[in-house]
Amino acid sequence: MTERSPYSTIAIDGPAGSGKSTVGAALAQRLGYTYFDTGVMYRAVTDAALKRGIPIRDEAAITRLAEDLHIDVLPPTVADGRQYTVLADGEDVTWAIRRPEVNANVSVVSQYPGVRRAMMPQQRRIAERGGVVMVGRDIGTVVLPDADLKIYLDATLEERAQRRWREERARGQERPFDQVLADVRSRDELDSRRAVAPLRPADDAIILDTTHMTEEEVIERVVALATSTPVPSTAA
Ligand code: DC
Repeated sequence: MTERSPYSTIAIDGPAGSGKSTVGAALAQRLGYTYFDTGVMYRAVTDAALKRGIPIRDEAAITRLAEDLHIDVLPPTVADGRQYTVLADGEDVTWAIRRPEVNANVSVVSQYPGVRRAMMPQQRRIAERGGVVMVGRDIGTVVLPDADLKIYLDATLEERAQRRWREERARGQERPFDQVLADVRSRDELDSRRAVAPLRPADDAIILDTTHMTEEEVIERVVALATSTPVPSTAA
């Protein structure tokens, strides 16, 4: 049975490893909403650039690629544990966009203003239909500044790196923890310091520190926030 929410558009932002994707997908399922993880779009562009040999530092070429690449996000087409299927120009790239080379380059690609400009209309179009949980870095601040509910998930760098390390290991990508920690740190820096749409909580976001919470606890807390009636502001 789905639960009822007074909110039609729900934005969840936060840094790498904060639990956004897991929590966002679970929330969408509980509410019967569409789940849209905007990070997959930046990942699909990065994956396509690497496969086509386009240098990641060539901003003009990467921007053209972002403008031309047709990205589709569909309900899972294969029962292999995926939350959705990602197609780039018709090719199934659902798992390819999670490989380490993409992780290492996606923050650079997502810094390019032209790439962000190319992705935004599609993200807004999906939100217009309502009944959506949209996850990313700049959803509450830039993409959907009028989202009905904004949640910002956070956790310490150490804890987020631990989560990423465990996820990777579960997928068979064994790497030393220090390497994963260094990657998460460098992505944090790039995502927070970039000039366009940097990672930060919206002024009206509810901030949740998940460092000492289990995944289930975070999900229950977020579902509770999304299904409770908003408290009227007491500010004059
Ligand atoms: O959430 P993720 O790890 O899949 O995101 C991949 C990259 O894309 C990350 O470096 C930040 C960027 N990103 C972004 O800039 N804006 C978004 N709305 C979502 C992701």
